[in-house]
Amino acid sequence: MAGTNFSHEPKSVKKVSTDYRQITTKIPVPESIPLLERIYETESRSMHGQIPIIWDKALGFQVYDKWGNKWLDFSSTIFVANAGHSNKRIVESLKKVLDKPLLQTYNYSSPERHEYLDYLIKNTPSYFEKAFLLSAGSEATEAVLKLMRLNGLIYNRRKKGVICFEGNWHGRTMGAQMMGGNPSQKEWIGYLDPNIYHIPFPHKHVIKNQDPKTFLKDSLEKLFKKQNINPKTDICGVMMETFQGWGACFYPKEYVQEISKFCKSNNILLSFDEMQAGFGRTGELFGFMHYDVEPDLIACGKGSSSSLPLSIVLGKEEVMDLPDIGSMSSTHSANPMVCAAGKANLEALIEDGLIDNSRELGIEFHLELNKLEAAFPNYISEINGKGLLAAVIFRDKNFKPLSKLCDMISEKCFQKGLLVVHTGRESIKLAPPLLINEEAMHEGLNVFEEAIKESIKELYG
Ligand SMILES: Cc1ncc(COP(=O)(O)O)c(C=O)c1O
Repeated sequence: MAGTNFSHEPKSVKKVSTDYRQITTKIPVPESIPLLERIYETESRSMHGQIPIIWDKALGFQVYDKWGNKWLDFSSTIFVANAGHSNKRIVESLKKVLDKPLLQTYNYSSPERHEYLDYLIKNTPSYFEKAFLLSAGSEATEAVLKLMRLNGLIYNRRKKGVICFEGNWHGRTMGAQMMGGNPSQKEWIGYLDPNIYHIPFPHKHVIKNQDPKTFLKDSLEKLFKKQNINPKTDICGVMMETFQGWGACFYPKEYVQEISKFCKSNNILLSFDEMQAGFGRTGELFGFMHYDVEPDLIACGKGSSSSLPLSIVLGKEEVMDLPDIGSMSSTHSANPMVCAAGKANLEALIEDGLIDNSRELGIEFHLELNKLEAAFPNYISEINGKGLLAAVIFRDKNFKPLSKLCDMISEKCFQKGLLVVHTGRESIKLAPPLLINEEAMHEGLNVFEEAIKESIKELYG
């Protein structure tokens, strides 16, 4: 989400009343404005710029305010509530821990921690032998960076180069931003890590008719020549966002498979940032599974608990155990409440068939979205995604980004009782909780279409 200043002026809008949506007041709600503006006085502005709604409760795939309005949620907050808002299994297990009570244990053990780690390792691919639990996604991507470098040091002191991608994103802390592929976001750092390299992301419009493997080979050769480095002696890791976030842009499968081969033959660790892609979002437990490769490390967050702050690094024992005892830990890691939420979340995804629902309903979701793409050829240039994840890219016939149109569509959806992921760019992402039903999914898509039509009319006549 980038900071768009959504209007705080309450507007009279059409009343809505369906099973899934309810809009009964002016939008934004007049009573909410002084409260929002009070936050603006007491909290740093970097947190602001979001659609002006004050959440009172959230249940399943719906979000409620306290003034009688109800939104159909196509955002899962921001790819978090994969198992649904306030999922029953999660709420029940949290209540049990609260009632004991046991709120914090630092690095001391707890039954919740044992049970979660057992369940997690048992229910993720067998090549993930150990987990490291953290709180924020950025902490997990930073930990992956550290593990890739520690592994490189086993071979030689020079082997510390990390290959990342232009346009990818890994969080807001220093290492995460160094790996990120957006130069303007790194200006505050004042220097660039000389051993973090970026190669072009293989976007469809960039590689055009080229063979993806040749495109990769050329990108790597150019990099090695420019930097005068050798992958065997100078590169320890490749960090890939499973799909490029803002546009849900996936890499061609053969491209990723070629990277995997390149890593194996040069003793390089292959890592995926699964923050948005993980925990069922794309119709598989992890998004990298679509590429049929076996990564060495993955960093997860967001949907790993569908609720409390939980991020995870998963990998092989020999890599995960590289840091010495006590040398890679965090105060709130493996908190009992968070572990209870993480276990209940994974149980819900697997045992209640939510990953299957993402895969199966996802097919219909994309068929419907393809119709939308065909209906607005002058405004929608592509729609990407898998499972219950989509990014609709708004560009005109000359490929000019239409980010103002996206702002307006997001705002209109809000007025009509639908929450979408506003990226601040030329894309809108749609990502309902994975327990959504067919009827609600269709209703949300119809509202989205209505908002597109009205916005085009208002902006372009
Ligand atoms: C791909 C990706 N990596 C890392 C992060 C950082 O996660 P967090 O905000 O929990 O630190 C995000 C968050 O948006 C993300 O989308």
